[in-house]
Amino acid sequence: MIDVFKREIAEVLGHLLNKPSSEIIKSLEKPKILDHGHLAFPVFALAKEKRQAPPAIAIDLAKQLTGKILNVSQISALSGFLNFKISPEAMQAEVFREMKAPDRLGCTDEGKGQRVVIDFSSPNIAKPMHVGHLRPTVIGQAIKNLAQSQGYDVIAVNHIGDWGSQFGKLAWAMQNWGSGYDFSVDPIKKLVELYVRFHAEAAKNPDLEKKGAETFLKLEQGDPEIQKLWKKVIEYSFKDYERLYALLGTKHDVILGESFYNDKLQDVVNRLEKKSLLKESEGAQVVFFEEAESMPPCIIKKSDGASIYATRDLAAAIYRKEVQKADQLIYVVGHDQSLHFKQVFKVLQMLGYDWAESCHHISFGFYQFKDGKMSTREGRVILLEDVISKSIEMVTQMISQKNPDLENKDQVAKEVGVGALIFHDLLNDRLKNVEFDWERVLSLDGDSGPYVQYTNVRCQSLIRKYGSPVSLDDLKLMDSLEEQRLMFTILQFQDVVSASYKNFKPNILAQYMLELSGNFSSFYNKCRILGEDPAVEKSRMALVKATELTLIRGMQLMNMPIPKAM
Ligand code: ARG
Repeated sequence: MIDVFKREIAEVLGHLLNKPSSEIIKSLEKPKILDHGHLAFPVFALAKEKRQAPPAIAIDLAKQLTGKILNVSQISALSGFLNFKISPEAMQAEVFREMKAPDRLGCTDEGKGQRVVIDFSSPNIAKPMHVGHLRPTVIGQAIKNLAQSQGYDVIAVNHIGDWGSQFGKLAWAMQNWGSGYDFSVDPIKKLVELYVRFHAEAAKNPDLEKKGAETFLKLEQGDPEIQKLWKKVIEYSFKDYERLYALLGTKHDVILGESFYNDKLQDVVNRLEKKSLLKESEGAQVVFFEEAESMPPCIIKKSDGASIYATRDLAAAIYRKEVQKADQLIYVVGHDQSLHFKQVFKVLQMLGYDWAESCHHISFGFYQFKDGKMSTREGRVILLEDVISKSIEMVTQMISQKNPDLENKDQVAKEVGVGALIFHDLLNDRLKNVEFDWERVLSLDGDSGPYVQYTNVRCQSLIRKYGSPVSLDDLKLMDSLEEQRLMFTILQFQDVVSASYKNFKPNILAQYMLELSGNFSSFYNKCRILGEDPAVEKSRMALVKATELTLIRGMQLMNMPIPKAM
């Protein structure tokens, strides 16, 4: 990994400047133009300190350092930067040293002994998942994988929305009309139909609203009959969700929905009261914030005594910290809930919990469609299932045009169709809204998941054609521009994975995967591999193998399927 060289440079440079090497490591960066070197040290801060011109300092330091750093073959000064070139031999040795433990690629022990509880996907049940659920599901799963790679012990929670007065209505509808519906096919569709029917009837017969409320009260009081119906609603919903989760490879460790906290809400109220934080406002119990926070108060109990979303999230956070022993609490939820999480985290802080600092709302922007914003009314909601099916369908068509003899066509279409959606989602800076454009999702030679998958397939087909096991030992030096560039990219994998996790930004990894694929492509086009002089062929095959291993590891972390052929 690139860190090996950073440490080496930092040690010598730190010694020379009389500064701790950890400080130098932090300022080492990747030069904008690779020809300048592999690592750069900006001298501007130093120039200020010493009241000298940056270029002069850089030139002076370059002179003093030349020949002093074992694995650095060239040091140059350029407009205020010190540029270091790692020697080709050292670079190559480090790449293939890493490949000896491919399962550890990208891994660190940074999170060892620490637990992360990550809440992601978390749909509201009895409703189908729509395309908007792709983001929390896919980003959450990637962050979970990244956390594990950094040594954290992770508990992935599905905080489903399984509580609220609507379940009273649904339970009533199930009880009275349910026998007319076959829940063995499309169960959520039936639940939605029942819910819509309930509202249509309630418009004509206001008595129904009362019935719904009564039924919810019964549910709250634990009436076994109503509880049974409500549990059925959850079960039916999950039948649908599980199919989608299986397609996307989504895995939670536990489902602890909002209802799980029913018996833990009073404790939240008690804790707030003990700190005198609960105030009455228009009949409701609320927590007020200081003016500087400029946030509306956080409602804990509505005027009818009912708890709300925030109360449950307070209980959930306390549970995650105290029972599940979380060191970091991560919530992958859309940016429309930013205020909610700001309020919840602030209340935790006001309760005196310093661990509120380790609560992170990983927010994200939404999908936008050319024909307007996705709507959940008027039946214009775009179902997640339909988006996945369409992607697979389009890939199936592409395969029948481009590669009709491909084996396991259906399987490959699924892997590519799903991989394309996942990659496209992760490639976008999560904070921004995403323009959903099928051409970009599926373009084979563009910035897409299929392109990354295809690069790996190319590596694997070379390895197959090569015919013998690829050896990583006794290789010839590969010092052409393309080979060096590819190796340098491979060396950065570790750094990229760490940064992706630290910033909770899987797009850093996705961008890297495109760079790696592009650099492999240049290498492949420029350097003959099969049929070369055997020693060269052997070495280049080792580089193909290193690329394949890195691509696979990257796709695993992003939770993309990895097709063997395309
Ligand atoms: N069910 C919520 C929704 O669909 C998301 C829940 C996110 N997690 C949480 N702890 N609030 O909007």
